[in-house]
Amino acid sequence: MAKSSEQPALEPAIFIIFGITGDLSQRKLLPALYHLIKSDLLHANTEIVGVTRRDVSADDLLNSVELCVNETEKVCDPVVLKKMRSMISMQQVDLTDSGDYTKLKSYLDGIEEKHAICMNRLFYLSIPPQVYAPIVQLLGKSGLNNSCIHGVAKSRLLIEKPFGYDLASAKELIAETGKVFHEDQIFRIDHYVAKETVQDILTFRFSNPLFAAIWDNRYISHIQITATEKIDIENRAIFYEETGALCDFIQSHLMQLLALLTMAEPSKLTSQTIHEAKIDLLDTVQTVSAADVWKDTVRGQYDGYREEVHNPGSIRETYAAVKLAIDSPQWRGVPVIIRTGKALAKKETKLSIIFCSKDGAIANSLRFRIQPDEGISLNLLAKQPGYEMTTRPVSMDFNYGQTFNDHGHPDAYERVLVDAVRGDHTLFSTSAEVLASWRILENVVQAWSTSDKDLHKYRKGTTGPSAVDELAAKTNAEWL
Ligand code: BG6
Repeated sequence: MAKSSEQPALEPAIFIIFGITGDLSQRKLLPALYHLIKSDLLHANTEIVGVTRRDVSADDLLNSVELCVNETEKVCDPVVLKKMRSMISMQQVDLTDSGDYTKLKSYLDGIEEKHAICMNRLFYLSIPPQVYAPIVQLLGKSGLNNSCIHGVAKSRLLIEKPFGYDLASAKELIAETGKVFHEDQIFRIDHYVAKETVQDILTFRFSNPLFAAIWDNRYISHIQITATEKIDIENRAIFYEETGALCDFIQSHLMQLLALLTMAEPSKLTSQTIHEAKIDLLDTVQTVSAADVWKDTVRGQYDGYREEVHNPGSIRETYAAVKLAIDSPQWRGVPVIIRTGKALAKKETKLSIIFCSKDGAIANSLRFRIQPDEGISLNLLAKQPGYEMTTRPVSMDFNYGQTFNDHGHPDAYERVLVDAVRGDHTLFSTSAEVLASWRILENVVQAWSTSDKDLHKYRKGTTGPSAVDELAAKTNAEWL
């Protein structure tokens, strides 16, 4: 992302990254920061403070990260690297020791005194969600939730999903963080919402009256939201045993996609109106009832998962599919099937909207290809050339890369960091959205965590459990 003339300069900020040596920081945050520095988007006084339990120097940190794998040339620019190095300092903190938070506060106050300015402080918790609440309490106890010494800039809390493991724990987490940080200081990250192609869903829907006019149950017969991954759980056994596919993907990323795809058009597109429209939509999605769980869901586990997590009796799902219904005049009768899984044949995230003709046969489909091969395709029926009146499906295709000659749009984490510095909440989930998503899935979470019923095994590298095709068949859906 290069700075354009309309792009307002970012305010000075201190990124305080808890868990800076961890996987997320190394794979996403540090490369995103590198790229923002390279694009000259950050304020010249920006500082990055790495918080770790261990004694790690900034040089050790930078030597251990593959910073530039996402860059076009895949190698770091030495000038940018030097600049980045000058912005990073490390603080060794025992996360359970309140005295260390007081030291951290003096350190941050010192940075602001050095620059003689007030800076936004962004506390990025890139650590396991189980420790969010105690850390947030200690941030509050040491006054780190308050604005800086000049009282102008903001202290902000950035946290990653999962926000809780069920409705009760999500409520508790929201209540605990809410005691220390105001809702407008909290940025709940869902990096799928920050993907360029996801951002385009609203523009596509609301800027093209052609589609806005047919966006309801008169024309749309069903919706499919699919996010498959080739990778397995990699080294995240502890994380995955606690989350599973439902919580890792559906409750967060895919419910957000559903909301963007089906929400009503706000009078104008602002952060507040978009969030209001999303919550209005999520509130109309029916809770999967306890009686329907085994009928309307499919779960699977890939062969070898139990060995990977060293838990021979694990019932944790690595594949999840759920059929949902939206109870509103616009969407009543339009089933939505959401599915996701790990260790599958390919990585693909797509949203398919299926339009049927009067006789119920599939006529058209519109597909948002979120990744890879980003684009939008519309399938139409055309007359096959010749003497007979026969039809044939044809496709109209829009491809981001080709159309915009675009190989450098901002990565989701670059957007997340920039918007957090700006204080723009559009891409972040509100507490109400988080709770609504949990409410919809609550009975599924309960049933799946307490029973080993219908846990379908599947082989790695396949399309997942065949039971999901039966769910589609019951819905008269053909995978698209
Ligand atoms: C994360 C999940 O939120 O998203 C991971 O925790 C998953 O399990 C990742 O692999 C996928 O992100 P992306 O952007 O690579 O599709």
